[in-house]
Amino acid sequence: MDTIVHLLILVLHALAAMLIVGSIAVALMIMSNKKVEWANLVLLKQIWRWLTPLIGIQIITGLYLMINEWEEFGHSGLLWFKLALLAFDGLVSAAAIKRYLAATGNNLNDKPTTVSLQPINKYGWLTLLTFLLISTIGVLLAA
Ligand code: HEM
Repeated sequence: MDTIVHLLILVLHALAAMLIVGSIAVALMIMSNKKVEWANLVLLKQIWRWLTPLIGIQIITGLYLMINEWEEFGHSGLLWFKLALLAFDGLVSAAAIKRYLAATGNNLNDKPTTVSLQPINKYGWLTLLTFLLISTIGVLLAA
């Protein structure tokens, strides 16, 4: 029974990871344009809204997995490295998306077809690489 619950939580953890990586990729694609279509800004707002609960699911399921096999993971440097990357990435990417959305100002109320915004620079894409690294470390932990 315990093994089945662990397996189900691990599947949930892996599914949420896919949604997070996909959402970050779409957000970065939108944010790398100088002129953004209004509809894409609305999509970015939606992505922002579902990212927070998704990260919450990752933390809750991740903590369960970690505590359930504490002998294996409690002292794993790889897992602590993954958590440090997650904390760093959370701060950096959350700040980038917030800054970008804040820069839309009142434009969204006018519903223009496109909005001109300062695009993220190439370092913004490091966020996606970090989330891919976090997922890769997860797979190594599960192997
Ligand atoms: C955005 C954040 C995270 C992502 C993208 C992520 C991704 C993953 C992935 C893809 C796996 C492998 C799943 C599989 O191969 O079936 C995994 C495993 C794991 N993750 Fe995460 N994870 C995240 C956050 C966390 C957090 C916050 C913790 C702990 C507090 C955690 C603890 C673990 C553990 C312990 C495993 C291995 C479980 C096992 O083998 O039983 N993860 N993670």
